[in-house]
Amino acid sequence: MSNAAAPATEGSDRSDAPAHVAIIMDGNGRWAAARGLPRAEGHRRGVDALRRVVRASHELGIRYLTIFSFSSENWSRPASEIGDLFGLLRRFIRNDLASLHRDGVKVRIIGEREGLESDICALLNEAEELTRDNTRLTLVVAFNYGSRQEIAKAAQKLAREVGEGRRNPDTIDAETLGANLDAPDIPDPDLIIRTSGEQRLSNFLMWQAAYSELVFVPIHWPDFDKAALEGAIAEFARRERRFGGLVAKTAS
Ligand code: IPE
Ligand code: IPE
Ligand code: MG
Repeated sequence: MSNAAAPATEGSDRSDAPAHVAIIMDGNGRWAAARGLPRAEGHRRGVDALRRVVRASHELGIRYLTIFSFSSENWSRPASEIGDLFGLLRRFIRNDLASLHRDGVKVRIIGEREGLESDICALLNEAEELTRDNTRLTLVVAFNYGSRQEIAKAAQKLAREVGEGRRNPDTIDAETLGANLDAPDIPDPDLIIRTSGEQRLSNFLMWQAAYSELVFVPIHWPDFDKAALEGAIAEFARRERRFGGLVAKTAS
């Protein structure tokens, strides 16, 4: 992901939306526990929230929406919960891919694919292939994703090039490393939202978040909707982004 800015979509509700919004969809388990329901039900309702937010993102003129769907560290959860989360991803792609494609959504996946079951890999590839020429909204799904792992993988790639004599180590700078991350063509997130009240990144887009505005909202992910997204965007619009300089740039 680079720093390039993208224009707002024509026909959107508003023009001050950030180009790239990234969301840490947290609080499914607590949402369910508060209602005496199994955690799996929270995850299932979380997928409904995701559908709402993809639609709202279209309407608000967001160009890139990145969602944190399964972290490298989520493997430490019980096997049954991991099974539920993988099952939901499978169903989401099987059920929603056609309508995402119809709506002009381009799907991209970041994260480690090695070691994933082959049917999941096939679904992820199918989603990317089918939607590759769409231009309305890019939905980046961070699945089996960890920022440290992504950065380490980029470093390994560059080290290999040096070892094979194909690269002079002096050419390695922040730009080169950034260009070797999972989706170097996608601009850095302008706004990162985390639901459920937690105020941490949990290994999400740590490189790309260097100048992102962070907004933490208290509501759990299954309750997140267009109004909540608009609230976070309004907070973003009040921020002054300076990128290390002295002159404030309006957030959007
Ligand atoms: C987010 O909800 C979904 C994933 C992390 C996959 P959680 O499952 O983390 O819900 P809480 O944080 O336990 O409430
Ligand atoms: C971050 O949430 C990962 C996803 C939303 C996929 P977690 O619930 O795993 O994060 P921690 O463990 O509370 O930091
Ligand atoms: Mg959580």
